[in-house]
Amino acid sequence: MDAVNTNAGVVPFALKDAPSLIERLWPAQKISVETKREFDAHSAQTLTALGSYWKGRKRLIYVRACVLGALLPATDDPERDLQIFEQLMAIDDRAFLNRENKTKPGEIARLAIAAGALSEDELPDYFRVRGKQTPSFDDYKLALGEGGLLWASGYKDIESLRLAAYSQWSYQDKVGRSLRPEELPDDAYDPIWDDVNQHLGTRASSFPQLVEQLGIMRFGHRPRVADTFCGAGSIPFEAARLGCDVYASDLNPVACMLSWGALHLIGGGDRLRGRLAAAQKTIAEAVEKKLTALGVEQDSEGNRAKSYLYCIETKCPQTGWVVPLLPSLVISRIRGTVARLRPNYGAKRLELDIISNVSAADLEAAKLGTVQDRALVYQLDGQTYRTPIASIRGDYRAEGQTANRLRRWEKPDIVPRSDDIFGERLYCIQWVSLSSLSKGRQETFFAAPTDEDLKRERKVHEFVKKNLNSWQESGFVPDMEIQPGENTDQPIRERGWTHWHHLYGPRHLLIGALVAEQINRITESELRACLFFDRTFIAHNSARLSRWLPGTPGKAGRAPSADMVKGVFDNQALNTLFNFAARGFIASKPGESASYRYQKLSTKSVISTHPASALTERADVFITDPPYADAVNYHEITEFFIAWLRKDPPDPFRNWIWDSRRPLAIKGDGEEFRRAMVEAYRVAADHMPDNGLQIVMFTHQDTDVWADMAQIFWGAGLQVMAAWYVATEITSETKKGGYVQGTVTLVLRKRKARESGYKDEIVQEVKAEVADQIDNMVGLNQKVRGHGRIENLFEDADLQMAGYAAALRVLTRYEKIDGVDMTKEALRPRRPGEKSVVGEIIDFAVQVANEHMVPEGMAAKLWEALSGPERFYFKMMDIETTSLRKLDNYQNFAKAFRIGDYGALMGSMEPNKARLKTANEFKKSGFELPGFGPSATRAALYAIFELENDVEGDDVLSHLKDLLPNYHNKRDDLAAIAEYIARKREAVDETESRAARILHGLIRNERLG
Ligand SMILES: C[S@@+](CC[C@H](N)C(=O)[O-])C[C@H]1O[C@@H](n2cnc3c(N)ncnc32)[C@H](O)[C@@H]1O
Repeated sequence: MDAVNTNAGVVPFALKDAPSLIERLWPAQKISVETKREFDAHSAQTLTALGSYWKGRKRLIYVRACVLGALLPATDDPERDLQIFEQLMAIDDRAFLNRENKTKPGEIARLAIAAGALSEDELPDYFRVRGKQTPSFDDYKLALGEGGLLWASGYKDIESLRLAAYSQWSYQDKVGRSLRPEELPDDAYDPIWDDVNQHLGTRASSFPQLVEQLGIMRFGHRPRVADTFCGAGSIPFEAARLGCDVYASDLNPVACMLSWGALHLIGGGDRLRGRLAAAQKTIAEAVEKKLTALGVEQDSEGNRAKSYLYCIETKCPQTGWVVPLLPSLVISRIRGTVARLRPNYGAKRLELDIISNVSAADLEAAKLGTVQDRALVYQLDGQTYRTPIASIRGDYRAEGQTANRLRRWEKPDIVPRSDDIFGERLYCIQWVSLSSLSKGRQETFFAAPTDEDLKRERKVHEFVKKNLNSWQESGFVPDMEIQPGENTDQPIRERGWTHWHHLYGPRHLLIGALVAEQINRITESELRACLFFDRTFIAHNSARLSRWLPGTPGKAGRAPSADMVKGVFDNQALNTLFNFAARGFIASKPGESASYRYQKLSTKSVISTHPASALTERADVFITDPPYADAVNYHEITEFFIAWLRKDPPDPFRNWIWDSRRPLAIKGDGEEFRRAMVEAYRVAADHMPDNGLQIVMFTHQDTDVWADMAQIFWGAGLQVMAAWYVATEITSETKKGGYVQGTVTLVLRKRKARESGYKDEIVQEVKAEVADQIDNMVGLNQKVRGHGRIENLFEDADLQMAGYAAALRVLTRYEKIDGVDMTKEALRPRRPGEKSVVGEIIDFAVQVANEHMVPEGMAAKLWEALSGPERFYFKMMDIETTSLRKLDNYQNFAKAFRIGDYGALMGSMEPNKARLKTANEFKKSGFELPGFGPSATRAALYAIFELENDVEGDDVLSHLKDLLPNYHNKRDDLAAIAEYIARKREAVDETESRAARILHGLIRNERLG
């Protein structure tokens, strides 16, 4: 039978000039929640298994929303557009019938009752009672309270009951309990295709079909998505998973390898799974055989080493004793194992005994090691010796730089020399007992190395020393010199290491080399390429920079974690350690470090290494996440892996340039950065059709950064069509009351017209466009959606962002403003602190947007009279009437209202429980705050505080008059403010609301003399 041509009837170019959905609509709020959910899945994310060391992966759900948003058209029925988009994303209400499967029937019943969708009398229509054949009404009521309800067989329509129940949860709560959309089976989407096809005129029953048909309708063929800064490949992977052809490139070969892994290894599906597992097994067996022959990982009783713990040691300049440098003496909290210092007077050495099952107090005491506050600290014969590490290292200043007296290692060195300042010591081995070796649950124990162990250690040294040259020549271990740099200086400066293999001890090198040697024997290049990932796991998880991490026993609500050797890249730096660990082969076996979530991808993909500006391939849609401002030094830290992999790579990687090409990496945020970015984006624009689209993602902390970015795209001949804000990661600084990081998504098209304009006129145009955009979105916002609950389609932060975007849309349409060519303007050197044209006009757009964001219930006239901090305070008070307490909301509005330090107005800055300071919390403070202190708002809050604290009404009024010299002119404002506070605080803080109402009455009823 002939295959059915699903594309028949799809009209090529029917959507050629249709605007994309993402230019008009995009539920950024829901996408933020989904993005955060994926982020929280940590190692269960689809691509993380390829290399957890790459921290900057974009979340797949976010990429999916971008790809679909780019391909779907915006029609003249925006509400239907949005419904279809949400169905495709599985973020509409009904999707949760598939995504949510944890909630027990009893809870559904309780929630449905609360939603008014079910009465207690109706319980028997849907439920039965556990353990009762013919339950009475009372049995039902009892079971409802105690969780004893089960679904009845032959039940009624439980879908509507479940939907009613879910409507009681916020979107965050719903998502938190549900599967991620990518975890749904394909058939979960079966019910949506009729709706989708009817709305779009397609004939699809799967994503690849839909995407191909939309591509034909827009571009005449299956769409091709390119990412010229592909990093670890989230963007090309997700685009391919949806059914696009993809082009991925990056300057960095490790990034390209990760992208290859996403598309071909994870995307290799079942075809690859079995073959790879078999190859990994063969390799593991061969290495095992070699190690057994060498006899270096097993003791005489047959126990097998799992981890080796090393530390640095040094000769104390005060006593001449050799002392280990250990920041903590704890080895295992689970087994109560610690290292204990024991003086060896003969050898003038502090030895380390390993003791298990110590008391909780001893374990606590062991947290304090011999490195404290950057000093070596230990006791000998009752006396404490303390020497700063800097002075042990011999730090000194030379030509404005810090230098030290550590010897620079020579290439053949694999361990410190006996006269080096820092020596190295094996102080503990974690063993797996012989009896449990073949069991699923292995028993481990810790012991100090015996003479036999030290002999085996020497054997490893000798073996590695003998083979190092030939391994380096064959590319089994690194031989590259470490180039100085922002991150790479650290190991050179702090340890004297000069070559990448110095970051590894002999045991690390041994395993790395034996595995590489076996992988090299695999002739099939695709398999060999897949096995290169096993090489990166070994390099990452077993190095002199690999931390020993004592696990934690399980506590209430928290799962226990095992003692383990951690990977090098805890963060994106090459931090040196005083104590580190090496994994024995049983903990480094290929195939056991990662379990891949295989998928089946079948579209065309091409991957190359080149600078973005050297692009020669064409694509219809570009989605990129470029390096920006203070981003990671990928070009330096990936040399850590390049050093292992660069010689003799397998075919798929053979034509790539195995060098980090530092000089070509785009970095920083100065003129050079702008020039390189303009070039990269101009080339991309040249390689897309006139109806092509670009989506650029970047994480920002500061509106100035993205104003700068907008200027870059402008200079590259692109016009901004829309901008969306997705709240993504919470930075560690949040804990200190810092910020929540968001990602700005800019949607760009080629600038077609060559318009020139004057700033005065453009400002007016910006004003109209911003107002129009916000009014439009607010109009949509009023719609009642879902079941029973009004859900905000757009948050105010979205509106604000849309306001910025509207301004940019107007601006970037012009090629020249006041006779100045915008490409030249983008590249023009700037004085420190000088604002760009974009920066200035954005400031203006912010003002316009703000004026359009009058909080509900406040007269526009009062709003206009308020200062920035007052506006912030009342806007947030309005938002606090909903459940949205996210710090990034506060942060965004603080920015919008241009308040530098909004902390003084905040009662809490917890990321999800942020809130304003109440009148009662302000007490008498806050009068010093610029724009807030002398205001009617502050005075009103003070009066409310007094009323809450039983001050007489007359006194309150008289204090108000003292605080506000022009009280009589401000009386109406004060009354309006009091009334506003009374209304907004009603459900949030009843006492404050009551006091505000009293204040309102006092002012209104005051007899004016
Ligand atoms: C922010 S990361 C991209 C992350 C990626 N989207 C992901 O999900 O993993 C930026 C990438 O730009 C690359 N890069 C830096 N300079 C470049 C240049 N001149 N040309 C191409 N790529 C470059 C870096 O190697 C890095 O992989």
